[in-house]
Parts: sequence; C-alpha cells; structure tokens
Amino acid sequence: FLGDVLSQAELESSIDSEWAGKNILYFDETDSTNTEIKRAAEKDALHGTLAVADYQSMGKGRRGRSWAAPHGVGIWMSLLLRPELPPTCASMLTLVAALAVADGIREVCDLEAKIKWPNDIVVNGKKVCGILTEASMNFENGQLDYLVLGIGINVTECDFPPELRDVATSLSHHCTSSVDRSRLIGALLNELEAVISTLPSREFL
Ligand code: BTN
Repeated sequence: FLGDVLSQAELESSIDSEWAGKNILYFDETDSTNTEIKRAAEKDALHGTLAVADYQSMGKGRRGRSWAAPHGVGIWMSLLLRPELPPTCASMLTLVAALAVADGIREVCDLEAKIKWPNDIVVNGKKVCGILTEASMNFENGQLDYLVLGIGINVTECDFPPELRDVATSLSHHCTSSVDRSRLIGALLNELEAVISTLPSREFL
C-alpha cells in the first residue's frame, strides 16, 4: 500500500476554510509542528496559521512524553489560535478540537470516532488521535497571547512499538476506503472553525 502524498499544493487545494489554515507552513520534516507554530507566533504569525509535517523528529505528547510521528503515515499538525478568551477557558479549546476531529473522521472515513475525555479520539476502543494544547500568556495584560493546538492522527501507521500495540490504532485499519490526509485536514479545519465560532468572546465572559 502506498500512502497519499502530502505537499503544500495538496494542502492548499484541500483547505477551503475561512481563517483556519489560511497560512500554511508545510514541512517534509521538522522537529515538532507545535514548536514550528511557537516560532511563527513569536514572529507575529496570524491567528489560524497552520503547520503540517510529514515527519517529526521530536514530536511531543502530553505530560512530557514523546510522540512517534514517522514519515507518511499520519497527520501531524498544529494550529495557531489567538483567541479572545480568558486564560481559564483555554482548556475548553482542547475539547472543542476533540469534537472537531471526531466529526471530521466520521465525515471523511465514515467511522464511529469517539472522544476519550478530554484529549484523545478512539476508534473501536483504541486511540487514533492525541491532542496537545500549549498556551502562552501575556503577563502585561493577563490575557492569553496565543494557543497552539497540536493534533496527531495515526492514519496508516501499522508498526506501533510493543507498549502501544494494545492501545493504539490507525484509521486505515478500520476504514474500507483509503484515507486522504489533506482531505481529512481540510474537513477537520472546517469543523474547527464551525465550533470555535460558537464560543463566546472575551467581552461576554
Ligand atoms: C498525546 O499525548 O496524546 C498528544 C499527542 C499530540 C501529538 C501532536 S502531533 C502534531 C503536534 N506536534 C507535536 O509535537 N505534538 C502534536
């Protein structure tokens, strides 16, 4: 089985959301898309800037763990958000992202994707997706400066390390048709935009 090919052009033609993924930073290879987005944010990148990599050499998981992100077999992406939300609401964005990813998977792969509260998405009881949200505070005004929403989805990975074999799986093992990564990215950005637009802004909280 040959996986799909990810590229800047593929992504550009699959993403049609309004602000999420308007600016795309694509990497054949990088340390971590969360780190790429932090670097971009420090250089004033816009709300909605998206980083996608085909491979991450230093993928980060939650609680300081590492996240395996081999070539060509997954979606390794991060979105920059500059939300008008009080810092206490930042964790809400993780839930919102989980909802959007689950909806995107249902739509594109026709699979029963469930949220394993609050950060994981499971299919048939095994994890297909993990989310790592990182926040940067602006201490001058006590507001959030930006959030990095990091999403990792196992798409065609079949070579999990022994300790993950019982708990992790990939979309393609459950899906009857092949999964196009750019199409799935496009779908979940649309879902994300839709849910994020329903959140109250800072002035109403
Ligand atoms: C978890 O521990 O379940 C969260 C894993 C999050 C992995 C994604 S892959 C894209 C983004 N970049 C990273 O370095 N981590 C997140």
